[in-house]
Amino acid sequence: MLKIRYIALALAALASPGEAQSPASSAAQARVDSLLARMTLEEKVGQMTQLTLYPLLARGPQPRDSARIDLAKLRAAIVGRHIGSILNVHDGALTVDGWHALLRQIQDVALKETRLGIPILYGIDAVHGANYTQGATIFPHNLALAATFHRDVVRHAAEITAAETRASGIPWNFAPVLDIGRQPLWGRFYETFGEDPYLASELGRAAVIGMQRNNMLAATAKHYLGYSMPTSGHDRTPALLSERAVREYALPPFRAAVAAGVGVVMVNSGEIDGEPLHASRYWLTDVLRGELGFKGVVVSDWEDVNYLHSRHRVAANRRAAVQRAVEAGIDMSMTPYDFEFADHLLDLVRTGAISKKRVDDSVRRILALKAKVGLFDAPYPNPAGRTAFGRLEARAVASQAARESVTLLKNDGTLPLKPATRILVTGPAATSLPALYGGWTFTWQGNDTSRFQPGTPTLLDAIRRKFSSVTYVPGSSFDSIIDVAAAAAAARNADVAILVLGESAYAEGVGDVSDLTLPDAQRQLAEAIQATGVPTVLVLLQGRPRIIRRIADRSRAILMGYWPGAAGADAISDVLLGAVNPSGRLPFTYPHAPNALLTYDHKFTETFVPADSSQSGFAPEFEFGTGLSYTRFEYADLQLSHSTLNMSDTLTVEVTVRNTGERSGREVVLLFTRQHYGSLTPAVRRLRGFDSVTLMPGAAQRIRFRLLAADLAVIGRDGRAVVEPGAYDINVGGRTGTFQLRQGPAAGR
Ligand code: GLC
Repeated sequence: MLKIRYIALALAALASPGEAQSPASSAAQARVDSLLARMTLEEKVGQMTQLTLYPLLARGPQPRDSARIDLAKLRAAIVGRHIGSILNVHDGALTVDGWHALLRQIQDVALKETRLGIPILYGIDAVHGANYTQGATIFPHNLALAATFHRDVVRHAAEITAAETRASGIPWNFAPVLDIGRQPLWGRFYETFGEDPYLASELGRAAVIGMQRNNMLAATAKHYLGYSMPTSGHDRTPALLSERAVREYALPPFRAAVAAGVGVVMVNSGEIDGEPLHASRYWLTDVLRGELGFKGVVVSDWEDVNYLHSRHRVAANRRAAVQRAVEAGIDMSMTPYDFEFADHLLDLVRTGAISKKRVDDSVRRILALKAKVGLFDAPYPNPAGRTAFGRLEARAVASQAARESVTLLKNDGTLPLKPATRILVTGPAATSLPALYGGWTFTWQGNDTSRFQPGTPTLLDAIRRKFSSVTYVPGSSFDSIIDVAAAAAAARNADVAILVLGESAYAEGVGDVSDLTLPDAQRQLAEAIQATGVPTVLVLLQGRPRIIRRIADRSRAILMGYWPGAAGADAISDVLLGAVNPSGRLPFTYPHAPNALLTYDHKFTETFVPADSSQSGFAPEFEFGTGLSYTRFEYADLQLSHSTLNMSDTLTVEVTVRNTGERSGREVVLLFTRQHYGSLTPAVRRLRGFDSVTLMPGAAQRIRFRLLAADLAVIGRDGRAVVEPGAYDINVGGRTGTFQLRQGPAAGR
């Protein structure tokens, strides 16, 4: 059977701006327009104001499962200042009942005590499942989802996240993150779909489509634009990127999300080359709306309008900051604590500095968004929402995602292990739930273990369930030695030592590091275990690639587990046992040294080294796309439909994948192109297509990709996409074919 994979990005990129931004239905539009016509300026400016939950809470201790509101504060915000949106939890996940009670209280005030009864739009960060609702299905973080290279898994996970978030009563999700992961020092690397813009575009599109299916939720493409490449590696610091580089690497996933109809775009708190995104009319209006055709809501990130004054210092005071942000294109300000944004905006409109039309444009988008997610028809949580949780189908998707994300980076045959193998498990991540779930889990930082349901299995628990002779000696914490000698002594009585190392959970800037090297205590533990001579298997639970150079060679096998979520412990232990045949592929380049941060799409000059230099050019610990299996796959009979291609042609690429091993397995098939010569320095290769196939031993399948000339586009000197004639290689599974692209009219649509 032939599998055909269209390279969808090109199709999306060719879609005319706004084509996929289906305009609100005329009835909904009429409803919005009629409401807008009745609103006062104060009510309009209130809709552009978003508060976090905290300032609305009653003083004193808060219950763990619900939120205790101060009704006077709630009325002051909703009735007095007409705010339109609230976000967040106070400090941890609520129960479904806790969410329902909170949202009913909020909507009661909005619907019954205000002049126009406009419902409040509540927003939350449900970034790997409905992670702020107790009992929700917690999926692998995006970096792990990216390792599956599986669009359907990402879409299904997003659909379940949407169902459980909406079942909590919340119609707006601040996800997916579409920033690309090219700076692993940055504490949000794990929230990305990896280093490649095509992969992030495809999976970001799948997430948006899944999340917004049946208008279950409004999804948010964040953080527009260039947020994930801070030159310093520290969150919210400058990205020194040329516009060309921004368009080449950072913009494609947002273009894909807009083409998929994403409802909201959240703005990058940082800056690109001196220009804070919250103050950039060019990026927020000319590009996002003018070029990409975005018609939804642009929301600021946390307090970022104020930060134009107090941090970026591009506004002499907060009033000027409001003016710059609204003129740039912000529709809603996540203020998130006070009403100063509204005060200044009212004054700016009354003094003529900002036009009423400008305000109307934002309010119209906000009301249209509320209509799109059905808030005007069903503003209250649906009591039936409780039944949406813990469904077997959700657990099955979480298990599939975790299983398909586990990436086997090295294996000398030590894996898989037999059930009776005498195993020493050691290392801090073996017994850590935060090291399995990562940040944004029940609490912002994800490291409050009291929030996990009692009995939630750690990786050690799962290993103990599958192997009959398991000893555990911690050896070290994440950052300090406990008792390495005891661990080494135990290793001498084991057949295999499983070192579970990596990182405990973190979120945002709290997770920034200045040195990627695995902490000394963990390295010392590993070296002590390896010095005993016992075969060691290294399992890494981490949000990014910590440097393992000093312990990699003496590790018989190395598994990258990422932060795989609730099904992670079972998935990884099943891979160790061989019950699951791993198929994950690295969605980033794993560096061999802290300062060797090259990506797979580096340039040819980055591969050269001077004669007799001891340095290596491009020699990562593990390359982008690395992933081993317990079976073997062979690629044969690569065929290209054209040896010479016109710009208007479609190139068909076919290859046969065969399972030549003894067990079934899933193979991710990656298609790379290489431009031989370009007007600008070409990347050594670019990912232009991916698919996957599951094959029984001996079985084969013919895989077909269809590429348009537009799929070969790069960003030219003038910042525009360009497809250059000349020779190109196609590489699939190590097989290479070459074709000539002829000058000529580009593909029409
Ligand atoms: C944070 C994050 C953003 C999140 C928002 C609301 O600062 O940057 O990703 O959606 O605030 O929690």
